[in-house]
Amino acid sequence: MRVGYADAVDAFKVDDLPALPPGPHDVVVEIGASGICHSDHSVLAGEMPFDLPLVLGHELAGTIVETGPEVTRVRVGDRVIGATKPACGHCWWCVRGHPYLCSEGVRLWNTPRYALDGDRAVPLFCGLGSFAEASTVHELSVVPVRSDLPFEQLAIMGCAVATGAGAVFNTAKVRPGDEVAVVGLGGVGLAVVQAAALAGAARIVAVDPVPTKRLLALELGATDALDAAPGEELVGRVQELTGGRGVDVSFEAAGRVDTITSAYRMARRAGTVVTVGAPDSASRLDLGGWEAVSSGKRLTGSIAGETHADRDLPTLVRLAETGRLDVGRLVTHRIGLSADDILTSFDDHEGIRTVITP
Ligand code: APR
Ligand code: ZN
Ligand code: ZN
Repeated sequence: MRVGYADAVDAFKVDDLPALPPGPHDVVVEIGASGICHSDHSVLAGEMPFDLPLVLGHELAGTIVETGPEVTRVRVGDRVIGATKPACGHCWWCVRGHPYLCSEGVRLWNTPRYALDGDRAVPLFCGLGSFAEASTVHELSVVPVRSDLPFEQLAIMGCAVATGAGAVFNTAKVRPGDEVAVVGLGGVGLAVVQAAALAGAARIVAVDPVPTKRLLALELGATDALDAAPGEELVGRVQELTGGRGVDVSFEAAGRVDTITSAYRMARRAGTVVTVGAPDSASRLDLGGWEAVSSGKRLTGSIAGETHADRDLPTLVRLAETGRLDVGRLVTHRIGLSADDILTSFDDHEGIRTVITP
């Protein structure tokens, strides 16, 4: 099978790897499209704590072409979106409302799916490994969707849209009239902007160094757009827009620690700060100890938008079908399954999402 994989930091290639045989609960998905997310780059750059080798790609949409004898969730011919956090529904985490921490999901992430050099087994990033022509995954890793939306849109709903919208709906629970700020306007940040608008936010301050991204944010529902600036300057501008208080909810979607600090400071006292981006695992956060208590703010990480895949992905599809979420605008480039083109896409700072059509 032709797959895009990394077997060492900074070593990415597209090559044929022998696929291991599917198990009774596995399905084979013919990949219709795969989005390229910043996290794929973070793994390749050694900034996320994942063991290599790994087949990259976790924004998957496609068609089921084969099912194991015990599969019940899907049938051949179903269109599916990949669930980055597969959930069993009955483990300690699932029954407490945290399916994105499912212990069975962790096991599925580590399931080997290809052989490398005869003896090394290669699992799939997020249990999906969508940089491929087809992928063998557990049935819990796919959510069937009855939708004619293009695969490229369905693919990026699996991570960018689910993560951004989930941070708004599930983690922050933005309320009508809230004032919010979004730092970082990639695929994830622009999903935050759109979901905040849907939730009825009265002010949405969008922050990014790239002018075209700020313009797009304004078209997708932001009310104000600010260039990235050193922490205090940026925080001052947000306070000017919010009666000196700061926003009710700030979101960090740039994947840096300096922007987490900025997002923290631009929230009002007793406000909520949601970190969505994934900074380098070796980085440290700069916050004052007194500030952490006396500000009364809630700093909360949002793991993949705290998405309940079976509940949230079909909802997001409906919102896209009815035009309430503009997912099409987030796809800006299309490429084939080529290592050079995938690596080039990581250096593109103007585009939003590049999608691979194998
Ligand atoms: N201030 C504000 N925005 C910034 C800054 C900064 N100092 N530096 C970079 N950005 C912007 C970039 O210009 C870009 O638009 O942050 C955005 C990041 O977007 P992408 O690289 O497209 O990342 P995306 O796929 O949206 O993911 C965002 O969420 O899931 C995580 O790992 C992912 O950390 C990443 C984050
Ligand atoms: Zn992602
Ligand atoms: Zn579980």
